[in-house]
Formats: sequence, structure tokens, C-alpha cells
Amino acid sequence: MTASPPPVSTDRLVARLEALGRVGALDGGGVCRLALTRADGEGRDLVVAWMKELGLDVAVDRIGNIFGTRPGSRPGPSVMIGSHIDTVATGGLYDGNLGVLAGLEVVAALNDAGIATERPITVAVFTNEEGARFQPDMLGSLVHAGGLDLETALATRAVDGALLADELTAIGYAGGAPIGGIEAQAYFEYHIEQGPVLEVEAIEIGVVEGVQGISWTELTIVGRSSHAGTTPMRLRRDAGLAAARITAEVSAMAREIGGDLVATVGSVKLTPNLVNVVAARAVMTVDLRHPDEATLQAAEARFAEIVERIAAQEKVEVARRVLARFEPVAFDPALIDRVEAVAHGQGRTTRRMFSGAGHDAQMLARVCPAAMIFVPSVDGLSHNIREFTAPTDLGNGLSVLAELVLERAGRANVVPTASRGDA
Ligand code: GLV
Ligand code: MN
Ligand code: MN
Repeated sequence: MTASPPPVSTDRLVARLEALGRVGALDGGGVCRLALTRADGEGRDLVVAWMKELGLDVAVDRIGNIFGTRPGSRPGPSVMIGSHIDTVATGGLYDGNLGVLAGLEVVAALNDAGIATERPITVAVFTNEEGARFQPDMLGSLVHAGGLDLETALATRAVDGALLADELTAIGYAGGAPIGGIEAQAYFEYHIEQGPVLEVEAIEIGVVEGVQGISWTELTIVGRSSHAGTTPMRLRRDAGLAAARITAEVSAMAREIGGDLVATVGSVKLTPNLVNVVAARAVMTVDLRHPDEATLQAAEARFAEIVERIAAQEKVEVARRVLARFEPVAFDPALIDRVEAVAHGQGRTTRRMFSGAGHDAQMLARVCPAAMIFVPSVDGLSHNIREFTAPTDLGNGLSVLAELVLERAGRANVVPTASRGDA
């Protein structure tokens, strides 16, 4: 079963990526569109305007997920193309945005070519994928897939203290559509790789087999502030030192376990954070990831031992809070095969791979067959203002996505109006 792709335009995709990239643009390049900030609201407004221009029926659900649907010739679940447009504070133009805007380009190409499909096609924008402002990450798609109840999600506090429900209302995206109301019979997410593998191996398309497990913990370490000049080293209860030792040991643990285990301390906040005061308090985050659940659990157990030992040695109290915990996810084998076959059919080189980053697709995989397409990231950079993917690579993935979507949605046999009743 093949479906020659509709004539997609890479130029139009790039123009939309650049236009969306101007919303929340940072002075030195890149974008800051943290979830549910005013910039996120402006970005959403732009995407919704494009959806309406393309004739999509737009629905916003109660957690702010946006769904733009092109009807099919028969009702039923959609072929869904989705991702996110929120960014980390130092984000680029491609992470998430590519998946959404490529979805719009597929719709634009179908419209241009006058192709009707049997199944509806829905372009989805999920709320707070990044998890940089509200945890957990992938929150909107998790709620959509029934993995987190709406009331708990709406009661989430941002790292800046704001309430998710208030922020959703403030930007005008506290929608009325029921959660899970728009069903998908398949979900495709087209994304930049965000790592170096495809570029290093000179491969054009990454065929994503799944997403590794994610474990995010916040530690609040409480010691005692005291004078930096008068407190002998042996008599300190230094929360800053405990945080630094935990950081170093967690990293050493990841190197020792080896393989694909990654460990990151991306945030440490000291109080009072002054040159001549021993820190009374440290709030830090630990991000552990591995494709295998048993290995991830083993790393979590080692991490717990490290914290306990260092807390005792440094005479500090440590409170733990789980910010996010998702097991590894395997995508649908038949859909993975189709991604690979379509890419090969279009003459592309491919490689099967696991995703190191979290994605909305891992949540959609709970409710429908899901798959992802990756294209190379220059220097493997993402969550960085220098994030870049060349237009040729963007076009390669776009054509694969378009063919997969048309194949899955099916061309509708529309009887041409002119011939009706003739002869
Ligand atoms: C989301 O981008 C994540 O993987 O941290
Ligand atoms: Mn992303
Ligand atoms: Mn991201």
C-alpha cells in the first residue's frame, strides 16, 4: 500500500518556523516561550490563525490542548499529527514547532492538491510538553491520554509559583472541549533528533522505536547558615556542599553504570546565596534517563543511597519530591515499519533509534498506535538557541510524514462534480 505524497512545500514550512520563531525571540537568537506565558499565548494565537486559514475546525480542550481538524469523507477517529510549541527558556525554533507546523503543511498541501481523505486529519498542539515551567513534562498529552486527571493538572504550580489553571485562563486557552474528545486512530510526531547520532552517521531519517524512561526528582536540602569566616569546616551544616557532592556523585554513578544511562543536575538554587554565608538551603533537580526500566530503577536506587550517605555525612536534612516518572515506551511495530518503508521508498537513508528526549508521542502511544520521524540536528544541539536543522533535512522528513499521513487517512473517492449525471 503506497500513497504518493501530496506536493508539500519546504519553503512554506520554513517560513512558518521563522514566523513562529519571532514570537518570544531572544536577543541573541533562539526563543523563550515557556508554557502558558504571554509568549506561549501569542504563539498559540498565530498557530490557531493558520489553522483557520487552512479551513481546520479548531477545538481547545480544558487543559489547553489545541486540535485543528480537517474532516474526512467518513466520520471517526483522526489521523493525528502533533507536538508542542512551548519551549525551554533558551530554546530554538525547531523543537516541537516542527511537528506542529509540518502538520499544517501536510494539510496545506492536501488543500492545494484538492485531495480529500476518508479519515479526518487532526493537527494537535499539546500544552506544556517541555516541563521547564510546570512539571511533569508532556502534561497536556498525558491528560489527553488519561494518565493524569484534569483537576490535578490544573492545580499544578509553576516553578515561579503561578497556578496552571490561572495561567491557562490568562492567555485565553482554558478551552471547553472535553478531554480526550478528539480520538486518534494513529499518531505521528515529526521532530528534530536533538542529539548528534544522525549527523555523525550521515543518516537522513531516524526511525524512532521508542522513548527512554524518565525520572525527575527535586531535592530540598536543609542545613544551617553560618558565618563563612568563623565556622570551622568540621562544624558546618552546608547545604551547598551537600548539593555539590550529590551532583558529582550522581554523574560519577552514571559513568560507572555506563551504557545509555544519563544523569543531569540542571538546576541548583542556594539560599541565601551569598559569598560569605554557608548555604542554609539548596533546592536541586536530578534528571535520570535510560531506555530500560530495570536499569533506570537500579540507578534510582543508587541515587537514593548517595543522597542518604551524603546527608548523614554533611549533617543536613533532605526532602525528596518526584517531579516526573515515566517508564520507557515502545512505539507501534507496524507503524515503525511503515515509517522505515516510506523513507526507503523516497530514497532516504534510515536508522532505527530510541529517543533520548521525552515527547508527546509517548503519551499518545497509550491510546493509539504512535510513531515518530527524526531528522538531524546540527552539532546535535537542542535546548540551545543555536538549535538548527537544514531545510533539505526538514524537507526530507516532511515528505515522509505527508506520505504516511495520506496512506493512513486514505484518499477519498470523490466523484468529480462535472461528471455527475453525465452520459
Ligand atoms: C523534553 O524536552 C525533555 O525531554 O526534557
Ligand atoms: Mn520537543
Ligand atoms: Mn524540548
